[in-house]
Amino acid sequence: MRTQVVIVGGGPSGLLLGQLLYRRGIDTVVLERKTRDYVLSRIRAGILETGFVNLMREAGVAERMDRECFVHHGTSISYENEMFDIDFRKLIGENVIVYGQTEVTRDLYDAREATGGKTIFEVENVEICGADSDAPHVTFTTEGRTQRIDCDFVAGCDGFHGVSRKTIPDTVRKDYEKVYPFGWLGVLSETPPVHDELIYANSSRGFALCSMRNENLSRYYVQCHATDHADEWSDEAFWKELKLRLPEEIADKLVTGPSIEKSIAPLRSFVSEPMRWGRLFLCGDAAHIVPPTGAKGLNTAASDVHYLHEGLMQFYEDRDSHGIDRYSEKALARIWKAEHFSWATTNMLHRFPDQSEFDLKIQRAEIEALRYHETAQMWFAQNYVGLPY
Ligand code: FAD
Ligand code: DHB
Repeated sequence: MRTQVVIVGGGPSGLLLGQLLYRRGIDTVVLERKTRDYVLSRIRAGILETGFVNLMREAGVAERMDRECFVHHGTSISYENEMFDIDFRKLIGENVIVYGQTEVTRDLYDAREATGGKTIFEVENVEICGADSDAPHVTFTTEGRTQRIDCDFVAGCDGFHGVSRKTIPDTVRKDYEKVYPFGWLGVLSETPPVHDELIYANSSRGFALCSMRNENLSRYYVQCHATDHADEWSDEAFWKELKLRLPEEIADKLVTGPSIEKSIAPLRSFVSEPMRWGRLFLCGDAAHIVPPTGAKGLNTAASDVHYLHEGLMQFYEDRDSHGIDRYSEKALARIWKAEHFSWATTNMLHRFPDQSEFDLKIQRAEIEALRYHETAQMWFAQNYVGLPY
């Protein structure tokens, strides 16, 4: 088999890249380790930047998103019983949207199927060969048979645990990592959201987040121990803990109900450099992870897809390799800023096991700087809605 670009990983970054390339006449094959249903069952991101929205439009897959999303012009931050808003519209005239990663992925799979794009599910033993040559190929096993696809380029969109990053030799690659001593326990419930904006809550019991998917679907998170297991948390224990971390007037309004999904995500900051090795390009979680506090993970995946898609188009349409040659540098420049924002918001809002009384006073001063100083709010707003590509 031959194609122009093999995309390893059928998550949001692989599918978005595939659809953008399809629109410009480039042939791709997507290799996905799991089934479509499994990929769609993972509840993850909820907040999308304008840059992401624009890419979905460019890929021709924004119709349902534009119809069903919620536009958010700001966000709320609470600390103990205090709460304040950061108004993105007033500060910088921009917004974010609420539209779940599950829906993004469903729309992209539907479009890929409708346009006849080839996706091979449940592949095993994927190996990327000859990435440092002009003629790479990818081998994999499916239904017990080994297959080979020859291609011009390989896009490694296979997430943090994929094979693509590990294909880059240790002598070339450098990883930067910080692991946080806690996780997020997330619950999805068919209940109305407690507030019209998201609430990021700092409390003496730890961080909490109130988010949503639609009028009757809420997503809530509480900071938990890194070693906790989701099945050890009853729904009752979760709701009780969440209420204790929110201002009283919000806790009193919270509508609880049975969880329809409950999972724990560990928190990590990670960047692998470079993001290109020969004809292999890393995109999204394959190259970098942020703690979810700033809602940046999927959004940084999208900016990678933007730079890579532009570079590949320049190569195919103008025979100019300038864009792909600068891909890693351009993508990383934006990623490190998102890494900084995610690290800073995580530090500002969570309880750390070794925090001293001094550290807590500093944390409070940081939150109050955000509450009362417009320059701090501008910085937050610009980063939250997303830096320009
Ligand atoms: P993935 O979604 O991990 O997709 C990779 C795909 O590759 C998977 O389908 C996997 O099965 C497949 N794969 C893996 N290995 C192989 C292999 N060897 N061969 C073939 N296929 C393989 N981001 C935001 O921007 N906003 C948010 O609000 C936000 N909230 C989040 C909340 C939580 C609780 C979590 C956990 C994450 C959140 N994120 C958020 C981050 C976001 O979900 C990720 O950054 C995003 O999923 C990255 O997409 P991806 O396509 O790069 O990787
Ligand atoms: C959601 C997740 C986040 O990490 C975040 O910062 C905001 C919202 C969510 O799942 O809705």
